Amino acid sequence: MKLFLDTANLTDLETAKGWGILEGVTTNPSLAAREGLEFSELVKLITDLVPGPVSAEVTDETVEGMVGQGKELAAIADNVVVKVPMTREGVSAGARLVDAGIPINVTLVFSAAQAILAARIGATFVSPFLGRVDDIGNDGLGLLRQIVEIYAVQGYDTEVLSASLRHPQHVVESARIGADIATMPFGVMNRLFNHPLTDIGMAGFASDWEAYQQALAEKRS
Ligand code: G3P
Repeated sequence: MKLFLDTANLTDLETAKGWGILEGVTTNPSLAAREGLEFSELVKLITDLVPGPVSAEVTDETVEGMVGQGKELAAIADNVVVKVPMTREGVSAGARLVDAGIPINVTLVFSAAQAILAARIGATFVSPFLGRVDDIGNDGLGLLRQIVEIYAVQGYDTEVLSASLRHPQHVVESARIGADIATMPFGVMNRLFNHPLTDIGMAGFASDWEAYQQALAEKRS
C-alpha cells in the first residue's frame, strides 16, 4: 500500500518527502483554499516537488466545465491526476477525460455502488472517504472492505485510494484490507512513527552510550 499526503501545504510535503516515504499527493478545493496561491501555480509547485501522482480537483459543476478544467489541470504536469466528483456530471466528465487519455481520481465516494461506477469509466483511482462515513455513524472500513472485495472479484484495474483517514489505525486497517493507497493529513503520517517504547529505547541507548564514552575517556586519562 502506497502512502500519499492529503494536503496542498508545501512545507508539509517537503517534510514528508524528506522522510523518504511520500509517494503521491491528493488535494481538494478546501485544502487548496488554505494556501492562498493561484490554484494552477499551487498545482505546478506540488507537481515539481513530488514526482508521484498529484490529484487536483475540478470545481465546475457542469460536464463541459469539468472537462475544460480537467484538460487545463492535466496540461500543468505529466503527474497530474484530475479529481472529479461522484455526481452524474462528474462521472460523464470523468469518462470523457479518460477517453482523452487523462488519468482521473473519482472522489466523494461513499458507497460500493458508486465505486463500481468509477471502475467502469476506467478511473485510475477511486477515493472512498472513510472518516466521513464514520462521522455519520456508519462503518468506513466496512465500505473499504466491500470495494476491495468487489474490485478483486471483478478484476477492475482502478486502484483503491483510502481517503479521509483520521488516525494511524485507519492506515493500518486500510493496509490489512488491501487498499492500494492510503492518503492522509500530515498529522496522521507524522503519528505513524510514534511508539513510546521507541522513545524509551532511544533514551536508554543514548545514556548507555554516554556512560560508555565517559568510562573509556577515564580509562585513557
Ligand atoms: O482526500 C479526502 C479528504 O480530503 C477528505 O478528508 O478529513 O476532510 O474528511 P476529510
